[in-house]
Amino acid sequence: MWVFVVFGVKMVVELNNIFESFDKNVIFKDKSLLQTRYQPEDIPYRDEQINQIAMVLAPVLRGERTSNLFLYGKTGTGKTLSIQHVKNELLKRVKKESGFKLRIEYLNCKLKKVSDTEYRILSEIIKKLGGEVPATGLPTQSVYSKFIDMIDSEKQLLVLILDEVDQTTKKLSNDFLYNLTRLNSELSQAQISIVGISNNLTFLDELDPRVRSSLSEEEIVFPPYNALQLQEILRKRANDVFKEGVIHDEGVIAKCAAFAAREHGDARRALDLLRVAGELAERDNSKKILLKYIDAANEKIERDKILDIIGSEPKQFQLVLHSIIQLSGKKDKESIFTGDVYHFYQDLCIKNKLEFLTQRRVSDIIQEFDMLGIINVRVISKGRGGRMREIKLAITQNILEKAKEIIRDSLSYN
Ligand SMILES: Nc1ncnc2c1ncn2[C@@H]1O[C@H](COP(=O)(O)OP(=O)(O)OP(=O)(O)O)[C@@H](O)[C@H]1O
Ligand SMILES: [Mg+2]
Repeated sequence: MWVFVVFGVKMVVELNNIFESFDKNVIFKDKSLLQTRYQPEDIPYRDEQINQIAMVLAPVLRGERTSNLFLYGKTGTGKTLSIQHVKNELLKRVKKESGFKLRIEYLNCKLKKVSDTEYRILSEIIKKLGGEVPATGLPTQSVYSKFIDMIDSEKQLLVLILDEVDQTTKKLSNDFLYNLTRLNSELSQAQISIVGISNNLTFLDELDPRVRSSLSEEEIVFPPYNALQLQEILRKRANDVFKEGVIHDEGVIAKCAAFAAREHGDARRALDLLRVAGELAERDNSKKILLKYIDAANEKIERDKILDIIGSEPKQFQLVLHSIIQLSGKKDKESIFTGDVYHFYQDLCIKNKLEFLTQRRVSDIIQEFDMLGIINVRVISKGRGGRMREIKLAITQNILEKAKEIIRDSLSYN
């Protein structure tokens, strides 16, 4: 009995220590400034893009429809931040006495369930405008009619910002965007302009040419940030996020920026690194962010990212990855090639009575894994123009074990 009491007391003391040291909070002054929701006033290195967006959209302040606009650039290059900034600035300048209404609505198409069906995404837009649509039941055409009735009831301009718009064509084909870009011809009082945003650089090329030309009447590119620019962005933010002296080594900012610059100049990655490094320092009861915490943060973010991808891939992807992992685990196999993977995968599907993809599709999947950094693929020439693709797993043992678990759970067999 009393063993339990002593044990209990010890646990309480330990918990007290943990909570107290967090309570003291020696690292963060205001961590919320590192959340994605936070909208910094100052947006360095995006003046040109912000001015261009403003120039395209400015006519709405006079009640004129603007060209459709398409923003693209790699992840973390400030697209969402910049459009939100311009949106806020425009709304500040709307004159009350003007004879028209201006609405600027932002929708992230990547959000769960938003772009599953044309019906869903339309309902989501209608909801933003203050209307309602039953969860199911209406024919899609009636939802369009409802949308048109809603906005065309008065003289108004609607700027519809569709962030991560590439998500809509993943599941909805081209129809949704096609229908959307044609709506103006059915409106008599209201007018719509669309701002599409994407980090998929080939998205436009994949669209139906009619949709493409309409969606990208104007285009603005967001280039990646370089290491020096990332340093500046980090330094500005770090001032308000951390307590004094927490970042006392200049190398800390430089290291975060260097890692993120390698990740194609991704400001989100740079800020995440800083946040995770701060959390690790906090957990370690350190009063400063040391360089080693940045390395650890980078590893943690990489690991989470890869596991996240593996977990969210469709079953066929997981089956291919499972095949690669199984083949790599066999000691007698020195190298594995695309053909080996395909045969293993095919057997696996047959054994489990699953349909299997063509070798061509599996090759595409393997290429995607290569791009994601899960495997390395090396092309080996075999004389007379023959080529083979050699595959090696590129994830550490630690991640590998976790990945296996995820795949096992998801495929529900060993
Ligand atoms: N110039 C900048 N100054 C300050 N913070 C920035 C700047 N650019 C980006 N950020 C910050 O980096 C993060 C990523 O930016 P943002 O969300 O705008 O990227 P994005 O281009 O929309 O990326 P994605 O394609 O992944 O959606 C955000 O937290 C944002 O506040
Ligand atoms: Mg974005």
